[in-house]
Amino acid sequence: MNLIKVGLIGFGRMGGFYLEQMRLNGKWEIAYICDVDPEAREYARKVAPEAKVVADEDEIFNDPRVEVVVLSALADSRLSQIERAFAAGKHVIAEKPIADTIENEWRVVELAEKTNLFSTVDLYLRNSWYHHAILDFIAQGEIGELAIIRVCHMTPGLAPGEGHEYEGPAFHDCGMHYVDVARWYAGSEFKTWHAQALRMWSYKDPWWLQCHGTFENGVVFDITQGHVYGQLSKDQTHNSYIDVIGTKGIARMTHDFHTATVELHGVTRTERIERPYGGKNIGVLCDLFADSVRSGVRRNELPRFRDAAIASEYAWRFLDDARQHDLPAIGDLKTLEEIRERRRTMTNGYGLLHKRH
Ligand SMILES: NC(=O)c1ccc[n+]([C@@H]2O[C@H](COP(=O)([O-])OP(=O)(O)OC[C@H]3O[C@@H](n4cnc5c(N)ncnc54)[C@H](O)[C@@H]3O)[C@@H](O)[C@H]2O)c1
Repeated sequence: MNLIKVGLIGFGRMGGFYLEQMRLNGKWEIAYICDVDPEAREYARKVAPEAKVVADEDEIFNDPRVEVVVLSALADSRLSQIERAFAAGKHVIAEKPIADTIENEWRVVELAEKTNLFSTVDLYLRNSWYHHAILDFIAQGEIGELAIIRVCHMTPGLAPGEGHEYEGPAFHDCGMHYVDVARWYAGSEFKTWHAQALRMWSYKDPWWLQCHGTFENGVVFDITQGHVYGQLSKDQTHNSYIDVIGTKGIARMTHDFHTATVELHGVTRTERIERPYGGKNIGVLCDLFADSVRSGVRRNELPRFRDAAIASEYAWRFLDDARQHDLPAIGDLKTLEEIRERRRTMTNGYGLLHKRH
């Protein structure tokens, strides 16, 4: 089979995952790696001798042999790279968020919906086995009518001031995944919401937020997200789950980042499934995309830019809503400094900062 020539733009933590998973997938040829940072390029030369490593993205857009680009730099470059990719006739796999402002995200959606070229966005939970297992169970009528969706993701991960800070507070940067998951399960659009947040360590932005509300079809949701979960505890832990309640049964999932456990309590069967968690499921995404490019028919499971724009927009709306209410601050910046200091030297923990080895 002809390998699909791909150019990776942005070779940080996520870029590294694409390299690894596209190689494993076996349907790709990593033709180019582009990064503006000389250190990242040096690292790319070392780990990907098969790729041409470049500083200027033009080389990729100007090479007609490149069929697909992966955009895994930061959100501020996404709109222009997507515009250029489509103009050059290339399919696009983009990291989330698909642009740096809501307006630019909708511009990207418009571009994607006008072209015959394929595009998808790494809303990784949509490629996970556990959510598909639960959705199949619901579709079989096992829980009766879907009524309540409860999602929670609290970890001692990215602290304020680290990582992709300008892609928003934790509830946007990470929380948009859970906003998307709730909407995906509901199969409907957000109708009402009320958000409560907290400025942990008295940081300027909330780093924990809980939102509840309704969808147009009457399903209700609550989403809790925060990277505020015991950063200074001797042994760190997290709490991550989805809990889906129907008129007759329930389905839920939790994980420890290694194994995911799905528990299904339906009207005709009770089942407990334990399987490897699957991380960011980049391999699944790449495989579905390769299939689409090769067959000329877009795989329907692939998340769309529109899904990402809606999730991002509502994550911002819920943050805005929280700012309209009492927004208490607890703790002090000194504790946050201790957390950052600990995370700088941590080798085993949650959402560690990307270090090239
Ligand atoms: N889907 C997910 O679950 C998920 C998880 C983590 C990160 N992300 C997203 O992926 C993106 C990358 O995150 P990361 O953790 O890999 O960040 P990172 O900082 O580790 O890597 C980003 C890389 O892009 C490079 N870069 C910046 N601007 C560039 C440009 N214009 N052209 C070429 N290279 C450029 C940087 O030098 C850096 O090497 C972010 O937008 C982030 O929000 C998504």
